[in-house]
Amino acid sequence: MDFSFIQMSDPQFGMFARLSSLDEDRIAELHRSHGWNIIPTAKTAGFAQETALYQKAIEAANRLNPAFVVISGDMVEDQNDPNQLAELRRITAKLHPHIPVHWVPGNWDVGITPTPHTLEQYRDNFGADYYSFQYGGSSFIVLNSCVGYDDSQAPGEWERQVDFLRASLVEAHDNHSAHIVIFLHHPLYSYDPGEDDSWAVIPLNKRSVLLDLFETHRVSAVFSGHWHKCHFLNHKDIQMVTTGPVGYPLGDDPSGFRIIKISQNRIEHQYYGLDQIPGPEELALPGSY
Ligand SMILES: [Fe+2]
Repeated sequence: MDFSFIQMSDPQFGMFARLSSLDEDRIAELHRSHGWNIIPTAKTAGFAQETALYQKAIEAANRLNPAFVVISGDMVEDQNDPNQLAELRRITAKLHPHIPVHWVPGNWDVGITPTPHTLEQYRDNFGADYYSFQYGGSSFIVLNSCVGYDDSQAPGEWERQVDFLRASLVEAHDNHSAHIVIFLHHPLYSYDPGEDDSWAVIPLNKRSVLLDLFETHRVSAVFSGHWHKCHFLNHKDIQMVTTGPVGYPLGDDPSGFRIIKISQNRIEHQYYGLDQIPGPEELALPGSY
């Protein structure tokens, strides 16, 4: 069955306000160290910009009528802030009720170093932090890459997740899935599968475990976020796709989302800025009526 879905990433309620307080020296330093393009602005509070952007993204999703929406992490800056969560929920509720949302945990949702407490809080707010689902003859597996990034304060979480991943991959083959698709927050690597650890990617010791499983089980594509800009790699015929943000852009890509079309033999996708999203007729999306 052919169908399409939308990947949104990093709506990150609260980020515009946090970055608005940075001085020019810090902005220049973050540009040098991380490659981030931060625009100096007067100090703001709240999350009015995130509201406007996420609302636009949800309205566009309603027009496109995808099979589902996946949000690949960093929903809010602070999951202890009830206002950020309430605003995320208020706008998400405007999505047509027949379009499911699949949440993926990001580092701002569970912390750079997740703990049993932050994971429990996330599970209360969003549901399971790793899980799988089926759609249209393909298998989709959501992972909590934050535990892969740093599991030092969450004993056993990484091992349980790898066991789950291994079992889900076997099950996907048993189901004769047309494709196996992975969603997680952190990209696995930037350019070289053996590259050094950094803020941007899953550390090498965990990365190699994931790559090995993805290769062995012939995963079709891996969709991530985290960078607030787009990136694409072909890893041994596995598409490794990083999607820009609904919220604050840190690279050249504007705030936007990715539309992915799945058919029996291929997976095609395109990132669109929120002001450049075509109509459903123009895209000829399978599953859009
Ligand atoms: Fe983010």
